[in-house]
Amino acid sequence: MGRKAAFAQLESHKDRVAKTTMRAMFASDPQRFSRFSAAHGDMLLDYSKNRIDAEALAALFAFARQVELEPRRDAMFRGEHLNETEDRAVLHTALRHQGDGAVMADGADVMPGVREVLGRMRSFVTAVRDGTIAGTGGAFADIVNIGIGGSDLGPVMATLALAPYTRPDLRCHYVSNVDGAHLADTLKGLDPARTLFIVASKTFTTDETMTNANSARAWLAGALGDAAVGDHFAAVSTNLAACDAFGIKADRIFGFWDWVGGRYSVWSAIGLPVALAVGFDVFEAFLRGAAGMDRHFRETPLEQNLPVILGLLGVWYRNAWGFATHAVLPYDQRLSRLPAYLQQLDMESNGKGVTLAGKPVGWATGPVIWGEPGTNGQHAFYQLIHQGTEVIPCDFLVAAIPHESLPPHHDKLLANVLAQSEALMLGKTEDEAIAELKGTGLDKGRIKALAPHKVFPGNRPSNTLMYRQLDPETLGALVALYEHKVFVQGTIWNVNSYDQWGVELGKQLAKALLPKVMGEASAGDHDSSTQGLLRHLHGLRAR
Ligand code: F6P
Repeated sequence: MGRKAAFAQLESHKDRVAKTTMRAMFASDPQRFSRFSAAHGDMLLDYSKNRIDAEALAALFAFARQVELEPRRDAMFRGEHLNETEDRAVLHTALRHQGDGAVMADGADVMPGVREVLGRMRSFVTAVRDGTIAGTGGAFADIVNIGIGGSDLGPVMATLALAPYTRPDLRCHYVSNVDGAHLADTLKGLDPARTLFIVASKTFTTDETMTNANSARAWLAGALGDAAVGDHFAAVSTNLAACDAFGIKADRIFGFWDWVGGRYSVWSAIGLPVALAVGFDVFEAFLRGAAGMDRHFRETPLEQNLPVILGLLGVWYRNAWGFATHAVLPYDQRLSRLPAYLQQLDMESNGKGVTLAGKPVGWATGPVIWGEPGTNGQHAFYQLIHQGTEVIPCDFLVAAIPHESLPPHHDKLLANVLAQSEALMLGKTEDEAIAELKGTGLDKGRIKALAPHKVFPGNRPSNTLMYRQLDPETLGALVALYEHKVFVQGTIWNVNSYDQWGVELGKQLAKALLPKVMGEASAGDHDSSTQGLLRHLHGLRAR
């Protein structure tokens, strides 16, 4: 059976499942939770509140086997060139590989290089944290990471997630946007003599990053003189020559490799600011957590495999039901940047329109990923999730145990996350709404008028991921879980999840437009909208 036939078969399963509701399925099956939940260590995935039954799930697992998910997964771990358009291996898993074993790519063991960089990172991190490596004005107090996309989002997300492990006297800041406001606001109040910049860029050519890095260097040199630059800059890149040309000292350049995709690079030296913020032992625990999820992904039968289950449920909703978005809703304030991180991971990976063979895909691919932490989202956009016309599958994430001893905050947080998934699943019928309204003493006419507004359709799907505590191992496992989910979906959709040609056109056009924005060239070759906007811009600037 080809993919088209498999997708068609999923639709017929959908037609059956659509005739019932989750409410009914829970009522008729007291074992539903145990049938539709799985675990990795103490991380539990409850996926029972989905529009799914055993038959549909079996069809999804059969689909995964049909597209040879397991051999393809093993090929990735073996270092085969799954990134075909760039002819590269996909080996971010080697960055967190545990033990002394080899990981091969292109006929060579990559692990000696990985271990060497990790060793250099450890020495550097330890020396910065104990003040042995310092700025010209004393121990570093502020670290400013300059990078964008994968050279920013992972470290930003992880530094915040691991806030309980950070030190108040060593603060990490992240500058990504080419908007000068980002750099200016970040540098405001920092002492140049105690600031360390990390220029993080896989290619070391990304315009936003190089523009920010040059301005940061000018800020530092303006305050401390050119001679101080070497003491205040480090770099992370695969382009070692460009780091050298920028003026970064050789012992402050941390390399990685072309088999690490930008959005999969937080495990590499791109994680340096995280390691500086939390210490190297904590960073290693983060890597260990991810390695544990890698083992789970490789060794657990598909039916109990968390990334496989999450990935297949996403395919189910995207392709059989036509749901276009997916919300990630951490009930964990420190995961507030996880949705933004997952936007790049998922949408840059699977936002593709052609197959590996370059033919148009005949099915929907990656959904829009979005989200905000609960409970804030409840007071903003949950209205639409509960009663709007779009169905939005949700992932809820929550820890059993907080880092703070602040009762009753965490119990309230937990009550809220449990309430949301229950409310989405159950909904509220018109009869229930009327019975409730009757209790308020309103007259009949008012009750009739209000009742439709108080009805919740219910039957709205969600997964809940519950873990013990947001510690470094758990964070590593969570991120790796989503990486592998993306792999599973990319395999089903038959796309290359590891290139990103779709970002290139905008970059090319921005380059061509810069002289026109600067008034150095005529915009006559552009469409009338672009010309009109440029005219308006120049008019405003001339005032
Ligand atoms: O333009 C997209 C992209 O290439 C991302 O894939 C990448 O994470 C980001 O730019 C930054 O790239 P670099 O690390 O090379 O500066």
